[in-house]
Amino acid sequence: QKFNVAVLGATGLVGKQIIETLAERKFPVDKLYPLASSRSAGEEIDFMGEKVTVLDVEEFDFAQAHIGLFSAGGSVSEKYAPIAAEAGCVVIDNTSHFRYDYDVPLVVPEVNAASLADFRNRNIIANPNCSTIQMLVALKPIYDAYGIDRINVSTYQAVSGAGKEAVDELAKQTANLMNARPMENEVFPKQIAFNVIPQIDAFQENGYTKEEMKMVWETQKILGDSSVMVNPTAVRVPVFFGHAEAIHLETRMPYDLEHIKQLLTDAPGIELIEGEEDYPTPVSDASGNDTVYVGRLRADISHPMGLNLWVVSDNTRKGAATNSVQIAEELVANYL
Ligand code: A2P
Repeated sequence: QKFNVAVLGATGLVGKQIIETLAERKFPVDKLYPLASSRSAGEEIDFMGEKVTVLDVEEFDFAQAHIGLFSAGGSVSEKYAPIAAEAGCVVIDNTSHFRYDYDVPLVVPEVNAASLADFRNRNIIANPNCSTIQMLVALKPIYDAYGIDRINVSTYQAVSGAGKEAVDELAKQTANLMNARPMENEVFPKQIAFNVIPQIDAFQENGYTKEEMKMVWETQKILGDSSVMVNPTAVRVPVFFGHAEAIHLETRMPYDLEHIKQLLTDAPGIELIEGEEDYPTPVSDASGNDTVYVGRLRADISHPMGLNLWVVSDNTRKGAATNSVQIAEELVANYL
């Protein structure tokens, strides 16, 4: 059986990656409908060796699609996801718009594939935040074996998480600085080239940013466990592709480090990089593939149940496109 698949945001960074990933993973696509705004309707994109025309979402009839992969921003999803869902198209939404609705499943296939069963509630499935996805893929085996009481996490997030214009801004600022030209910032609140910015998304009343609170809410929802405490600091760094995270957690039960190494080695989607002086980085390992890399695994010298990990993954792939396509694969394998 083959499926008609609409990709909304097809000209954006994640949308393009979704289309590439559908081809790469040989998803059973009958017809592909790349959708965007009227700005880029009429453009052509490549899919499986053929040219496909980008359509204006405003004029698209979602009854033609079995599955819709949405990645054009929260307000676009807010408008079009209910329309698509109503027309019988199952929406897999990459924005944060529906993530915290109790009747919308929020899914990382390696962690909570079973929660997908509720997708008919709204015909909408939410794809989690990129930082949450890679963290939970890495922590799930530890959570299952020993429980997790508390997570302190600092992120080092690539600019591609903020879209095409953010990638252009880092490139342009870098070139301008090299040439001693004046530098402007539009996408980011401060200069991002040769800098780090401890703000991603808007500040909330409690002093955390929205990106940080996403990691709190989503971790608890995906694990189905509101007793897991999460304390994040989300930081933008001048890296193009690949988020890194320094994670410091406390388990519920005393753990065996060798056992955790074995669990991580055996777990799906993870590669543990170990050895004397080796560790994963966004550029040398994660960028361009779907793996969640774990390194710097070590017992915390400051706490008996403490454990430290360094987790790296490509935010546009496993953090966005790949996870969405994996959800679609689960959907067609078990439900459609
Ligand atoms: P368009 O090319 O028509 O602007 P990125 O996250 O890389 O910035 O990409 C955003 C994606 O979302 C693009 O594909 C963009 O299409 C799409 N998009 C943005 N606003 C809208 C809208 N109002 N309607 C449909 N698609 C939109």
